Amino acid sequence: MSRYDVRKAVIPAAGLGTRFLPATKASPKEMLPLVDKPLIQYAVEEAVASGIEDIIIITGRGKRAIEDHFDRSVELEENLKGNGKAQLLSQMRHISTLANFCYVRQSEALGLGHAVLCAQRLIGDEPFAVILGDEIIDAPVAGLAQLIHAYKKRHGAILGVQEVPHHDVSRYGIVAPRTLSAGLHRVEGLIEKPAPADAPSNLAVIGRYVLPPDIFSILRKTRPGKNGEIQLTDALVELAKKSPMFALEIQGQRYDAGDKLGFLIATVEFALKNPSLGPEFNEYLQNRMSPSGERRKTRAVKA
Ligand code: UTP
Repeated sequence: MSRYDVRKAVIPAAGLGTRFLPATKASPKEMLPLVDKPLIQYAVEEAVASGIEDIIIITGRGKRAIEDHFDRSVELEENLKGNGKAQLLSQMRHISTLANFCYVRQSEALGLGHAVLCAQRLIGDEPFAVILGDEIIDAPVAGLAQLIHAYKKRHGAILGVQEVPHHDVSRYGIVAPRTLSAGLHRVEGLIEKPAPADAPSNLAVIGRYVLPPDIFSILRKTRPGKNGEIQLTDALVELAKKSPMFALEIQGQRYDAGDKLGFLIATVEFALKNPSLGPEFNEYLQNRMSPSGERRKTRAVKA
């Protein structure tokens, strides 16, 4: 094993999900289903496809459903077995074998930086990945795998980025880049949610990171920043002053599924791609969008 192998990933899932209220009042945002799988399962599958073995999920109050989802469900399995649903049974069993799961409870939502710090003991002294489960990346090569590949060559912290429309920069952490090669940049600075006029670029950090363990000592010293939360971005700014940091443009389609509109768009796209639902759903949408389809729909509603 080399000291640059990335075997562990942290999935922070203790946030309050205020953009998705009231759905997230008593249910975890991470369990919202994108077609037929909860959001967090996409994050776990991306990690596993990137060679990750140990997954540390940061949970909080009201998040028990996440642990149950990645555990065996003996009653359900008995039921599926008894009813001869072998394929569904093997799919359900597979979920709990995807990786080694560990859970750390963040007792208060003190920010993403604090959530990552909660994983320190389980990570120890090795590089690790962070995946934000509400950012879904649909790509032929898993988004995190692209970052890990770059990390093995560069050996510095790597942030996954993508270009966003200039008027949207205030929703993201934005990097000040010095381009090294196509899609790879040295991070010269990083600003959390800048006003468009202050943004050094339109390269936004999109919820995928490979970080060295040095980030923990910095996080320990990081004081609450924007919104009174301990911000991962603030700690990354400090890390970038001490060691090289890079930004890799991740190839793939990204969806912000933690936001209502982004979630709806992701749902439509994943449903259209789904082999068993796609053709019928496509037909429905075509009908719905055609002028006659709308008339039919209006009649149905009136009836
Ligand atoms: P977000 O700000 O996107 O998530 O945090 P949120 O707080 O759940 O949602 P909104 O913005 O209020 O709608 C990014 C990630 O960090 C996690 C969240 O669960 C999310 O995956 N997080 C955030 C924590 O685990 N703990 C925190 O204290 C804050």
